[in-house]
Amino acid sequence: MSEEPVRLEIRDCVAIVRITRADRANALSRATVLGIGQIGRELAAETSLRAVVVTGDGDKAFCAGADLKERRELSDAQVKEMLESYQTELGWLETSPLPVIAAINGVALGGGLELALLCDLRVAAAHAELGLPETTLAIIPGAGGTQRLPRLIGEGRAKELILLGRRVDAAEALRIGLVNRVTAPEKDVLTDTLEWIRPITSGAPIAQRAALKAVDAAARYPLERGLLLEREAYADCLASEDRREALLAFAEKRAPIFRGR
Ligand code: COA
Repeated sequence: MSEEPVRLEIRDCVAIVRITRADRANALSRATVLGIGQIGRELAAETSLRAVVVTGDGDKAFCAGADLKERRELSDAQVKEMLESYQTELGWLETSPLPVIAAINGVALGGGLELALLCDLRVAAAHAELGLPETTLAIIPGAGGTQRLPRLIGEGRAKELILLGRRVDAAEALRIGLVNRVTAPEKDVLTDTLEWIRPITSGAPIAQRAALKAVDAAARYPLERGLLLEREAYADCLASEDRREALLAFAEKRAPIFRGR
């Protein structure tokens, strides 16, 4: 088994968070969850990053959810602690001001799909399968799946996937809006993801951050408060040098160069 269950690589301006437990289908052991949390704390101080990509080693599993071998050894109290740690250690993926993208390199089951649901965008390998099989194990999704899945694909479909414990393939996941993109079968999903997000990595970061803040408000607040937040988020962009650069570049018929100021 790999010594570090999760690794961080900075490639250009993208932080790649990779679970390195291919021998256990990249399952979320306690050390893996804590490792992701630690990386989140490290990245919070980084100012040069433009995006975060979460992925897993190998091509079989993105993440097979809770480490069921470890789970067997845990007391009820320890399982409760684990559930708590999903929020404290993984929550940064959802609240990060940077766009966070899941590059789903294989099955994403249970906590693995919940990990992907914390991300802003999801790209799936053509052979990936996604599902929340918890009820078939006599439990329920415990890392936010019961809340985030219906928000993303609607209550009816979410109940279907959760109650039947049914896995969907990548094509169906794309059709129901569970993933944003499916990578062509001959292509590596991480490479494809990094290419696909180029408009993000070369785009205007202040505007992207403001857009994420405003869109995230849509799921949390009533419309009126959301519209107010949209106006506040717009104001963040108004004062930026990047906005002036965009207007100048348009007038000069050239591509803008954004500096995140
Ligand atoms: N926790 C711990 N180990 C896991 C695991 C998990 N969630 N999922 C898979 N593994 C281990 C397997 O036990 C196996 O190890 P072994 O060779 O020591 O027995 C190894 O990973 C490879 O899994 P295997 O089942 O042989 O590979 P596969 O390609 O046929 O299937 C999965 C992979 C992920 C589809 C299958 O293992 C599976 O369904 N796992 C359970 C997923 C699940 O129900 N997750 C929800 C948890 S709430």
